[in-house]
This record gives sequence, C-alpha cells and structure tokens, in this order.
Amino acid sequence: MAAQLLSDSNKATVVLGSQWGDEGKGKLVDILAADIDICARFAGGNNAGHVIVVDMPTNDGTGAKKPVKFDFHLLPSGLINPNCTNFIGNGVVLHVPGFFDELDALVKKGLNCDGRLFVSDRAHLVFDFHQIVDGLKEVELGGSSIGTTKKGIGPAYSSKASRSGLRVHHLIYDFAHFETKFRKLVEGRFKRYGHFEYDTEKEIIRYKELADRLRPFVVDGVAFIHQALLSNKRVLCEGANALMLDLDFGTYPFVTSSSTCIGGVCTGLGIPPRYIGEVIGVMKAYTTRVGAGPFVTEQLNEIGVHLQEVGAEYGVTTGRRRRCGWLDLVQMRYSHLINGYTKFNLTKLDVLDQLKEIKVCTGYLTDGKLITTFPSDLEQLSESRTIPQYETLPGWETSIEKCKTYEELPANCRAYVEYIEKQLGVPIVWIGVGPGRDSMIKKPRTVV
Ligand code: GDP
Ligand code: IMO
Ligand code: MG
Repeated sequence: MAAQLLSDSNKATVVLGSQWGDEGKGKLVDILAADIDICARFAGGNNAGHVIVVDMPTNDGTGAKKPVKFDFHLLPSGLINPNCTNFIGNGVVLHVPGFFDELDALVKKGLNCDGRLFVSDRAHLVFDFHQIVDGLKEVELGGSSIGTTKKGIGPAYSSKASRSGLRVHHLIYDFAHFETKFRKLVEGRFKRYGHFEYDTEKEIIRYKELADRLRPFVVDGVAFIHQALLSNKRVLCEGANALMLDLDFGTYPFVTSSSTCIGGVCTGLGIPPRYIGEVIGVMKAYTTRVGAGPFVTEQLNEIGVHLQEVGAEYGVTTGRRRRCGWLDLVQMRYSHLINGYTKFNLTKLDVLDQLKEIKVCTGYLTDGKLITTFPSDLEQLSESRTIPQYETLPGWETSIEKCKTYEELPANCRAYVEYIEKQLGVPIVWIGVGPGRDSMIKKPRTVV
C-alpha cells in the first residue's frame, strides 16, 4: 500500500538560531506555542540553554502574577504552554538523568507535563561517560580546545556516527542487549582514554530503573510526527544551538556535533523537505558567541563589556561569559543562504538603547580583497588577515522597553530594523524589546 502523504496545506514551522546561539529562540517558541499543537526538538542535547520569563499566578488568592524564570536544556520550550504537546526527535541526543532532572524542576515550578511529552525511540543516548570523555578530550586539545559545554554531545554523536551508539529502543525494548552493548561501549572508551573513574555495573543498575521510568514517554518517532501532520496538527520544529555551530556549515571545528541547520529538521524528525513551511530565523540585534572560535566583529573593548552587562550575556548552561560584538551581515547572509529564512525575529534590540552609534558589518576585507561570503578556512578570518567593514548607524539613546507597537519605536530604531531587513531581504516580523513574554513587538509587514 502506498504511504499516505500530506496535503500541501499543513506544513511544519521551523524556528532556527541564525548566529552562534543564545539568540532568544526559547522565548519565541514559547510565544508561538500558544497557537501550535506540537513542539518538536530535532537536534542537539542538553548543551542548549533557553531562558523563558513568564508571568505566573502567585496562587495566594489575590489573582496577582509574578515573573517566573524557566530554564530549558533538553526539553522542548513548548512545555510552558499547557495545550502544547512536546516531542524529542531522533536527531537529539538524550541524557536520561538530565531529562528527568529537568522535568522534575519544571513540575516543581508548577507545570503539569503529564501526557504531553514524548521521546523518539530512535534518539541516541548520552551517558555520563560521554560527558567525562568530553572533558578529557578538551584537556587533550589544550590550547586549541573547543570550549564545549561538557555535556557529552561530541562523544555521543561520535558513538552514533561510528555505529556503536545506543538508542532509546535498546534501553526500552531489550535490556539484556543494552547491557552487552553498553559494556562494550564503555570498554572502548577506557581503551582510548585510560581507566577513568566510572562504575559500569552501577550505571547498568541505575539505567534499569531509568528504563522503566522512561518507557511511558517513548514512541515510534516517525509514526508520531507523521500522524500529527496528517491529522492537521500544527507542528513547530524547535532549533537548538545555531547555524554557525552546525557541524557542516559552522566555524568547524569550533562547532557542535549535530546538524543545527534546516537539513537537521528532516534528518532529526524523519519528515521530507516538502512538509516544511515557514522558516523563522532568530537573530540578535548584535552578535554573541560562547566558547572558542573566530568572531570577526567581536568587541574586546567597552562596547563588548556594555553589550555583555546590559544584555546579561552569561550562558545559561555553563554560566560562562558570552563574547560580544556587532551584528555581522556577512555571517547573516551566509546563514540565510543555507537556511532560507522566510521571516526573522530580531531580539534584544533594547540592549542597544543607550548607544550613541551602532555599527553593522557589511563586508570583510580579507587579504586586501573585499569578500561578502563567509569563508571555510578559519585562518582567513584571523585578525591579521580580515578587517571587518562597518556601516555606522545613529543610535536612539532612549529606552524602548515599554514600547508595544512598531510605531512607538524611535525613528532611528526603526531605521536600524529596516536597514537589516533591506540588507537581508527577509521581513522582520517580531522584535524583542525585553526578556518577558509581553516584550515582543509584532511588526507590520513591509515589502523588502
Ligand atoms: P536561546 O538559547 O536562543 O533560547 O537564548 P538564551 O535563552 O540562551 O539567551 C537569550 C537571553 O536573552 C535569555 O536570558 C532571555 O531571557 C533574554 N532575552 C530574550 N529576548 C530578549 C529581548 O528581546 N531583550 C532582552 N533584554 N532579553 C531578551
Ligand atoms: P542554545 O540552544 C551557545 C557551543 C559551545 C561550544 C560549541 C561546542 O542555547 O543557543 P558542545 O557542548 O555542543 O559540543 O559545544 O558549541 N554551543 C552553544 N553556544 N548556545 C548554545 O545553544 C550552544 N550549544 C553549543 O559553547 O563553543
Ligand atoms: Mg541559549
């Protein structure tokens, strides 16, 4: 019998990080979750860190609300919305203890997640030994270390690519087989990295219990997502990390180990490209990056410190200070080439409020030649070979935090937004002016 295919009317919406991560994807996903049925993560693991600030009832009988901060790492950001079902696809690497720690923390904050969180049986598992190995690899790299989150992401995707990894179905459906494969996998790591401190047998006992706890969440991921689309459920695919951290298209080797780009949606959920509709790029009004690697517009001066302090640029997963710099249109054009954004959410525009002037990088002068495409060879991006070319725009020098409509934004602020829109040829539809759910302006559509 022929497989049932979807009509063209119901397509999944995708939200992707367009820079080096931490653009504010979680906040947008949380806002969009009010009008979607299923929020699906397709790549990465608990290396991601999304902060979402939501006004929640104080439950003291006064009807008052207070802002509550939620941290998401592995679980999809649609969970705050009570009507949204959440799904972790096969492209994600799952650390089972981390999954439950995060879930327990959400429940403690008052979220009822019962019956609306599912995990693909094809997702690969991240174990504690992967995390130990992540740290050991970084030590081995010494001065050229990546600056990973040490969540075991690289080692877990390495196990997957070398075909020795363990998937959710191994854990759930055949524990005897799981035990054998697990011992072999750990033994291989001991051979490579020496006998680090790790109690294999104790871990097997722990995983026997975790398997029982995980079982009710596990589904055949392909059947699940296709059934959802076929029954006209509105699906949102939530990107983690970002394009410049993509294993193929990012600043390799200073990248994560998964396909964080649009292609990852298909391979990480098992849906064909024709099922994808809107592709929303989340773009910070400036640039940040955590960890090592090239960053042409980085500001190692008072501007960088200003962006860091005003933007509270400290990583939510590792607490590390984020490196800060100006918006880079060379990088953004490259990001758009690969992901084909149909809309943008420009975030953290309020962080630029106090600046007299704002710079935007429009080209790279590399080895004396103007280039407008992002090079593969990182050596070319060194400070001695690449000089960023900037356009300077006037700042607005006033707070936009309380603005609720596009028209309320100061003229120079609108000029900055429209300049970016024109340069990239993609409409900016949402503008973030503060961390809270309410601090998001919906911009009227302009022709770009
Ligand atoms: P994600 O990983 O892409 O979801 O982003 P993170 O949560 O790691 O980092 C974004 C940070 O900026 C979070 O602390 C958000 O609460 C905050 N944030 C998001 N949008 C805005 C905004 O428009 N303005 C300000 N000031 N903060 C924002
Ligand atoms: P969200 O989803 C920012 C970076 C790490 C490191 C590199 C590799 O919050 O935007 P890994 O642990 O993945 O092997 O680390 O990738 N990195 C992120 N930086 N935001 C993220 O996720 C990141 N996920 C990974 O800092 O440089
Ligand atoms: Mg983040």
